Amino acid sequence: MSNYSIKNLEEYFQVYRKSVREPENFWEEVAEEHFTWRKKWDKVLSWDFSIPEIKWFENAKLNITENCVDRHLLTRGEKTAIIWEPNDPEEESLHISYKELLERVNKFANVLKDNGIKKGDKVCIYLPMIPELSVAMLACARIGAIHSVVFAGFSATALATRTNDADCKMLITADGSFRGNKTLDLKGIVDKALEDCPNVETVLVAKRIDADINMKEGRDKWLQPLLEEASSECEPEIMDAEDPLFILYTSGSTGTPKGMVHTTGGYMVYTAYTFKNIFQYKEEDVYWCTADIGWITGHSYILYGPLANGATTVMFEGVPSYPDYGRFWEVVEKHKVNQFYTAPTAIRSLAKRNIEFVEKYDLSSLKVLGSVGEPINEEAWHWYNDNIGKNKSPIVDTWWQTETGGIMISPIPYVTPAKPTYATLPFPGIQPALMDENGTELKGNQVDGRLCIKFPWPSMARTIYGNHKRYKETYFSAFENKYFTGDGALRDEVGYYRITGRVDDVIIVSGHNLGTAPIEDAINEHPAVAESAIVGFPHEVKGNALYAFVILKETGESRNQDNLRKEINQQISDRVGPIAKPEKIQFVSGLPKTRSGKIMRRILRKIASNDTSNLGDTSTLLNPEVVDEIIESSM
Ligand code: PRX
Repeated sequence: MSNYSIKNLEEYFQVYRKSVREPENFWEEVAEEHFTWRKKWDKVLSWDFSIPEIKWFENAKLNITENCVDRHLLTRGEKTAIIWEPNDPEEESLHISYKELLERVNKFANVLKDNGIKKGDKVCIYLPMIPELSVAMLACARIGAIHSVVFAGFSATALATRTNDADCKMLITADGSFRGNKTLDLKGIVDKALEDCPNVETVLVAKRIDADINMKEGRDKWLQPLLEEASSECEPEIMDAEDPLFILYTSGSTGTPKGMVHTTGGYMVYTAYTFKNIFQYKEEDVYWCTADIGWITGHSYILYGPLANGATTVMFEGVPSYPDYGRFWEVVEKHKVNQFYTAPTAIRSLAKRNIEFVEKYDLSSLKVLGSVGEPINEEAWHWYNDNIGKNKSPIVDTWWQTETGGIMISPIPYVTPAKPTYATLPFPGIQPALMDENGTELKGNQVDGRLCIKFPWPSMARTIYGNHKRYKETYFSAFENKYFTGDGALRDEVGYYRITGRVDDVIIVSGHNLGTAPIEDAINEHPAVAESAIVGFPHEVKGNALYAFVILKETGESRNQDNLRKEINQQISDRVGPIAKPEKIQFVSGLPKTRSGKIMRRILRKIASNDTSNLGDTSTLLNPEVVDEIIESSM
């Protein structure tokens, strides 16, 4: 039996048991079986959740790009590593072989070096889904620079905050991007962001839309001519297993976004191992994850996990609705996709359209369907299963987080059973625990509590960049000696997990993790606004949508409300991004507050969901009268 590839239910239980009883031996065997190390570890694991400090494969030496690219050249040099599918189906797709990928990565790595980037430097990448994005990330990893990818839909303010927080010296962007029938002025956003980023010395600009853009003398350089001149040889920098590989930001319930730091060895082992099993990837398969690489899903399951297995991975520039709602299925047919991984919000939005958009295409290549980002509701699960999987492709509902680096709880297709809306069983090495509010672990089945993880796994984030204290407080303080996920979950009668949603103030909108605080800050900065509160409410397509309750200053009360709504929306777009625009903005005279001054969001959530029959205990409110007023004016 190979630990690396799990083939049936009995093997799953055997492997899982071993992973819990002898975690060090188990992970050592996985790491030895599949990867190339320049030097093996002295110790598999040392950990202490009270500091917290976690080290995997201590003192091992490697370069992740050697594992993701070089070592495949012997057997897979001509195999396609990346299929790039452009926004416009009329434009040709690109097949990049492993050999060509190595050349591209090396050239890009040399360009980084020529522009002063060295091991340990931070590079911000703000690119659309074009091949340069994958190549740029691997080029950073090649020379030991730390990439910080910022989703190219974020606003100038959000980009500036992240660039500064990560101390980036360089920023890589494009002249613009295509999104459906629109173009986005990425370089304009970058220019605006960089007004507040004094430490960025160089901006490399990829040409994508041929826009007439401003190039700042001495700072901005076109990327392609530099790549053409660069050498295609670049020795990989030898990294320690615990050297940082990347920083990726995620929203918290309060405060600034958190720059999660992922390190090299453990991240590689875990993403590769989960990819291999959870998608049951076979050598000739074509795998497609529709996420943007700007999110962790893209990092782990478009790039690193698939490439570490020598897979063919599709990178899609476009959107599911362009040129029409059949685009995903057209791409599945065109590239004979075998594993397809997407988000519930995409499934819900496609399920609303005419079924002809699906039926036109041959989807018989599909073997595994995946879902990620938020709980998948029963209806969407069945639509996906019936119409896309034709009842023959198992669905893997994969639960995980930016912080976990890789998939944590998920069925293994053709190995463990699926159950609609359940992420089901923990992956080998993952030890979940459900806790009650008093910090007691709920043992046995048929329990419902807060989801924690009791034991380290190789791809967990090691810290929050520049703020280890916050890392400890956010993840390791709620429950002693456990990693707290921020999610609620239940365990059913046979031990399957169902994620019930966030228990903190993070709201998941269309699979995007949004903290309430930055959006409220953006609203409060409007000169007419005194205070605001954002809550989520169920939405048919987005999963959750945002509802803003806004108190105006006396000076703002006479203003036209529609205009104010427009201005507030604009303000949110500029400061956080268009994703964060609320579905509804209600002006109110007060917000329900406890005597200690905390907004009682539970009540606002009920009002936003139009479920005001039972508001629960409001006796601790300082201003109960405001509740009726808000309800009345919400109708
Ligand atoms: O609440 C959970 C939800 O998404 C959160 C993590 O968001 P993010 O860090 O942006 O990563 C998303 C992609 C990995 C989790 O705390 N979530 C993610 N996957 C699922 C999920 N909720 C239910 N079911 C899932 N499969």
